[in-house]
Amino acid sequence: MSITIAFDVYGTLIDTAGIVTALDKLIGDRAEAFSNLWRAKQLEYSFRRGLMQNYRDFSVCTRNALDFCCEALQVEMSAAERVSLLDAYRYLPAFADAEQGLARLKAADCRLYAFSNGKPDDVRNLLKHARIDQYLEGVVSTDEIKSFKPNPAVYAHFLRQAGAGGCESWLISGNPFDVIGAISAGMRGAWVKRSSKAVFDPWEIQPTLTVGNLVELCERLQADQS
Ligand code: 2OP
Repeated sequence: MSITIAFDVYGTLIDTAGIVTALDKLIGDRAEAFSNLWRAKQLEYSFRRGLMQNYRDFSVCTRNALDFCCEALQVEMSAAERVSLLDAYRYLPAFADAEQGLARLKAADCRLYAFSNGKPDDVRNLLKHARIDQYLEGVVSTDEIKSFKPNPAVYAHFLRQAGAGGCESWLISGNPFDVIGAISAGMRGAWVKRSSKAVFDPWEIQPTLTVGNLVELCERLQADQS
């Protein structure tokens, strides 16, 4: 298949809910709620910084969001505990289906890239630690143009870096806002809906494809090409 695929990283290849294991040791049964708010605030801060054109890298959004959650949820957390949580965020696990899906797509001759808000080195280390870096031709980061998804400029940046055109390129993401952003910028977009409870934003833009995991993605893209 001669297609170029941009994989979102946090929430698509890498499971941000993996931080619950580290949180659990600190705050027990509040870990899941804390993790959900942390992720939502991290993304909100990236959106706001993008709109304000007041760029600080994604790790700053993650750190500021952690501080917000401690305050909002009245969790007392020492500076050392916060540092150790932010460190754990650099070693999050891959989703269980990620390696098999990437391996199959690579074997089918797709050009695979990681495409993330994260800084290039952070993303490379994360993917290496999760043992999925070997399937990817490269990492494209929005940090290279000092903006965040879903600014259309970041999807254009991806296409330039990958040397690809929008209509034969896919953005694959578990984050609906990212799928909508990519389609709005001229790419095709597949939503990875791993949970039956996940909801896609009811806008005028719907995913080109919806799949339950990355192995199914490979099957559906192969069927689409034949
Ligand atoms: C990423 O760019 C949006 O967090 C997501 O990896």
